Amino acid sequence: MKRNTGRNRETTKNWRPATQAIRSGTMRSEFGETSEALFLTSGYSYDCAEDAAARFNGEQEGMTYSRLQNPTVQMLEERIAIMEGAEACRATASGMAAMTAALLCQLEAGDHVVASRALFGSCRWLTDSLLPKFGIDTTVVDGRDIKNWEKAITPKTKVFFFETPANPTMDVIDIRSVCDLARSKGITSVVDNAFATNVLQRPMEYGADVVAYSATKMMDGQGRVLAGAVCGTEEFIEGPLLAFTRNTGPTLSAFNAWVVLKGLETLDLRIRRQSNNAEEVGRFLEQRVEKILHPGLPSHPQHNLAMRQMEAAGPIFSLYVSGGRARAHALLNALKLIDISNNIGDSRSLMCHPSSTTHHGLGEEARVEIGITEDMLRINVGLEDPIDLIADLDQALSSVGL
Ligand SMILES: Cc1ncc(COP(=O)(O)O)c(C=O)c1O
Repeated sequence: MKRNTGRNRETTKNWRPATQAIRSGTMRSEFGETSEALFLTSGYSYDCAEDAAARFNGEQEGMTYSRLQNPTVQMLEERIAIMEGAEACRATASGMAAMTAALLCQLEAGDHVVASRALFGSCRWLTDSLLPKFGIDTTVVDGRDIKNWEKAITPKTKVFFFETPANPTMDVIDIRSVCDLARSKGITSVVDNAFATNVLQRPMEYGADVVAYSATKMMDGQGRVLAGAVCGTEEFIEGPLLAFTRNTGPTLSAFNAWVVLKGLETLDLRIRRQSNNAEEVGRFLEQRVEKILHPGLPSHPQHNLAMRQMEAAGPIFSLYVSGGRARAHALLNALKLIDISNNIGDSRSLMCHPSSTTHHGLGEEARVEIGITEDMLRINVGLEDPIDLIADLDQALSSVGL
């Protein structure tokens, strides 16, 4: 009997998530390799000129050029789609390539976008600078209150865009309410799910139309490659998104796709362990600093909502140390184990000062409005033993008088 290769949706969609993460999407070559093959090729050859013509006019299935299709990348796309519960997925070269493509492919001059104001710095640049440059109006709102979304809608509103939990303010958006509102008005909801991933939170189950990722974060999860992905209906992914990406070229390399495929195999284990570690570290920090924003702890103002739509809170949270930038920087400089780094979703613990790094470009007014103050730090809790992490934080806090 022929073995299932993971491409058969009727079978793979019924597998449990852990099985999907390891086996779905796999296409075996004639050699029967167990680990997915890495197809480092930019082009493909044809048996005859007529076959080439048939592939280009869509009469024959097969690859034509790696900006459009690549077997390793397709395995990743199929795996992410299955894990997401989406009809289709298109992988991109980075998370920002995914966000840009997901928005621009469906918008045109005269359209209007409503976005939550607490977004990753470059996503705010998309809403505040790039889209308006092409005649697309945007309104940013405090996305925690559904009334703000309602009020911002105009007859031209085409897209709602938000991330939850948000980087680095940890604002939690009620996915169901916002996506229901969008659907009732014929608006497309685009959700950046980088922090939680589909292991902890599946926005499509709450009505999201498009889910986009920085796969650089937890999906790779070991700080190796940049990657992104956009999930949606077949009509959206194979229609406007494919037209945009095939012609503008934010394509994921086969090598990076292969690395993320390997990352997905352990995503469930890593994100659950890192969530537990982050809770332990969070409970320690809560006793020592002015305030922490950790959606998994009852002190977070939206803890109940977070726990309704997420299975666990993930590895990232923020803390306020009081004493402005001087104390925040001094604390970072006193760390001996945890690295100072603006990356997140890594198996190593990393800390950064968002105001002077990831959200520097946002400008002071917008930063203060969303709570990114000079004394805020963000931590990504890794897979190290939390006892060592707490010891490192303990000595660093003591050295700055906390
Ligand atoms: C929430 C969020 N979205 C998107 C991105 C961009 O992803 P990438 O760095 O892979 O382009 C990031 C990066 O930190 C992020 O945190």
